[in-house]
Amino acid sequence: MHKTHLKEKHDHQTLKFPQGFLWGAATSAHQVEGGNIYNDWWKWEQDRPPHLRSGAACDQYNRYREDFEMAKDLNHNAHRLSIEWSRIEPREGEFNLAEIEHYVKLLKHLKSLNMTVMLTLWHFTLPGWLADCGGWENFKAPFYFERFVKKIAPELGEYVDFWVTINEPGVYIYETYIERVWPHSKKSLIGQIKTYLNLASAHRKTYRFLHSKNALGKPVGMAQNIMSFEPYHKHSIMEQLAVVVNDIFTNHLFYFLTRGTHDFLGINYYFHARLKHQGLIPQKVDFSPPTHEVSDLGWEIYPEGLFDVLSDLSDDVPIYITECGIASTNDDRRNRFLVAYLQEVVRAIKSGVNVRGFFYWSLIDNFEWHLGFTPRFGLIEVDYETQKRHIRPSALTFAEIIAANGIPHTLMRFLGHTVTSEEVLKRFQKMEPQHK
Ligand code: FCB
Repeated sequence: MHKTHLKEKHDHQTLKFPQGFLWGAATSAHQVEGGNIYNDWWKWEQDRPPHLRSGAACDQYNRYREDFEMAKDLNHNAHRLSIEWSRIEPREGEFNLAEIEHYVKLLKHLKSLNMTVMLTLWHFTLPGWLADCGGWENFKAPFYFERFVKKIAPELGEYVDFWVTINEPGVYIYETYIERVWPHSKKSLIGQIKTYLNLASAHRKTYRFLHSKNALGKPVGMAQNIMSFEPYHKHSIMEQLAVVVNDIFTNHLFYFLTRGTHDFLGINYYFHARLKHQGLIPQKVDFSPPTHEVSDLGWEIYPEGLFDVLSDLSDDVPIYITECGIASTNDDRRNRFLVAYLQEVVRAIKSGVNVRGFFYWSLIDNFEWHLGFTPRFGLIEVDYETQKRHIRPSALTFAEIIAANGIPHTLMRFLGHTVTSEEVLKRFQKMEPQHK
């Protein structure tokens, strides 16, 4: 209903994004670099089957030039990436200057390509030494993190345009303490609470430091996994109550604990949940094919949820969508995903939400944590045998949208249709070459 309505309304125009919109993709160090032998994940992975170990990952540690240049050729004007704490501080208090120099080179390369750089300081992995003394449960963890940031910020700051202090505290806790599928998994409510509070403290400390006179005053935020919740029955009070409670804990509590320390909101959007009253506590109802399209991980494709979370978090600081993407070996699905989700971003902007950028997850296929290499999120496909990169047609769709700084009306018909790779290629070949 709703898609048809929009299609009719906008069929003859490009749905435009604001000028200066940031367009790019996101990655994280452990998922792409390879050889992160000093972190907790590496140690934990050694007891797992080979296909679930990060190993050489995408070897981006050595191939970053090629990857960044591909992003540039695909019209990206920004890139989100993370640095690996365990490389820089492999032993407590000992900093490896050669690794800092590596990241200086890498960031310089991005800047030489004229890219806006969004740098994440912590994306799920811990140096082994810190994991061995309790990880984020250790009351000194925020201090250790701040010490690390104090060490690297003066070296890297010149090449960074946006700082993301930490990535998705809620997901980290969920996977570690509730699903218990990540390193140091255990059942511990106290551990969860300590971790949550220490992550909030780490964010606040880092924010303050990055705004102190020693740093360069670039915008500081964090990336939060934000979910869209709705009641299964629109008029059920119990279900509405469940929505409010879930919304507070998943989407708002961390912001509340860190209020006043966000120059922007970084939103990672993947999930939508309908809560149904059955038994005492309303439960999430899963929708699946054939009525609902899902990713290869079974995650529901629900673009309207992006509009919902953007409206919900609309604030006086700008919003950047720091992650949004789909795991799919069916690239037609990714084409549709991009058009449908970006259309919701336009809707949100038109209704007054200050969204200033979109980072697709991910630039290249990579190591999807405990799930290994099977999920394919990349705009660029990676052949892990040869480390050869191969641009997927959906990357060209994204490039076309970036070039237009909007969604050309001709792309609207991607919605609800299968678009062949040939068709995407043909469209791309007709495009004017972009700025280099
Ligand atoms: C997010 C993570 C990112 C990646 C995507 C699929 O929760 O931040 O590292 O795993 O999910």
